[in-house]
Amino acid sequence: MNLKAYLEERRALINRSLQAYLPAVRGPAFRVVEAMHYSLFAGGKRLRPILCLAAAEAVGGDPGEALPAACALEMIHTYSLIHDDLPAMDDDDLRRGKPTCHRQFDEATAILAGDGLLTEAFHILAAASPRHAGSEASLLEVIELISKAAGYQGMVGGQMLDLQAEGRQVTLKELETIHRLKTGALLTASCRAGAILGGGTRSEITILTGYGEKFGLAFQITDDLLDVEGSTAEMGKPAGSDEARQKATYPALLGVEKSREWAKHLVEEAVRDLEPLGPKAQPLVEIARYLLVRRA
Ligand code: IPE
Ligand code: IPE
Ligand code: MG
Ligand code: MG
Ligand code: MG
Repeated sequence: MNLKAYLEERRALINRSLQAYLPAVRGPAFRVVEAMHYSLFAGGKRLRPILCLAAAEAVGGDPGEALPAACALEMIHTYSLIHDDLPAMDDDDLRRGKPTCHRQFDEATAILAGDGLLTEAFHILAAASPRHAGSEASLLEVIELISKAAGYQGMVGGQMLDLQAEGRQVTLKELETIHRLKTGALLTASCRAGAILGGGTRSEITILTGYGEKFGLAFQITDDLLDVEGSTAEMGKPAGSDEARQKATYPALLGVEKSREWAKHLVEEAVRDLEPLGPKAQPLVEIARYLLVRRA
């Protein structure tokens, strides 16, 4: 398959859908909508929504059924980036090739834009219920798993641990927990949600959850590697940010070579998980392999 064309086609579909959910329409609180819109459409790989749609396909479902959840996941992710970049957190000035939200607007507006995207995500999910007439239980299960993955038991918890680990020597076990939570949880939720909305069996849902967990950890390891080896121009975010903030990262703990080997091992395991699903899971196989060569 042509992965590049597949990703472009999916990105366009997701962007059209996000535009429909969040038109930049002038209203009473236009400034916050403008800031939400600014960060959501600044670029971005759309990886979480793409995984969600691909997981629905991998179980033989219609990816369209997973589109509202896919858009909700991208809104939650974008909110996490806006807050991650704030001076109180990673204090970065560049994101998706543009000034970060708090730089373009101001801190208060960036906080509110993040809040607005997070809450809008759950609005979109709840508002999708008419499309799921007769299968509301699946939609509720998805809302439950996404809220858990985004919150203190997932991404928010991981971000807390990430900040507490700054400037401190952590064990490999602690580091894995940080990465699984701050990044892995939402990526895993994207795969699991897609599998559920695609009508997968319990065993298919378990397979895609396992894939998502390995993918999620591998993804953050490659993000850490890019921070060391990547270029600001290609990534659209500052290289070297982790070292400057003395973040707990895989390259800092294990070195570049061992980190790369570990990411490769996780990707191989993730791909192996997909075997029972056959050719329908080919996009997920290719997306996992792409992690090892990505430059942004
Ligand atoms: C960056 O995520 C933040 C992490 C969780 C490592 P992405 O690399 O998916 O960022 P975008 O969405 O493409 O900008
Ligand atoms: C961010 O991890 C994880 C989030 C939940 C946003 P990083 O802090 O490493 O992400 P980047 O490198 O700024 O995109
Ligand atoms: Mg961070
Ligand atoms: Mg950061
Ligand atoms: Mg990073």
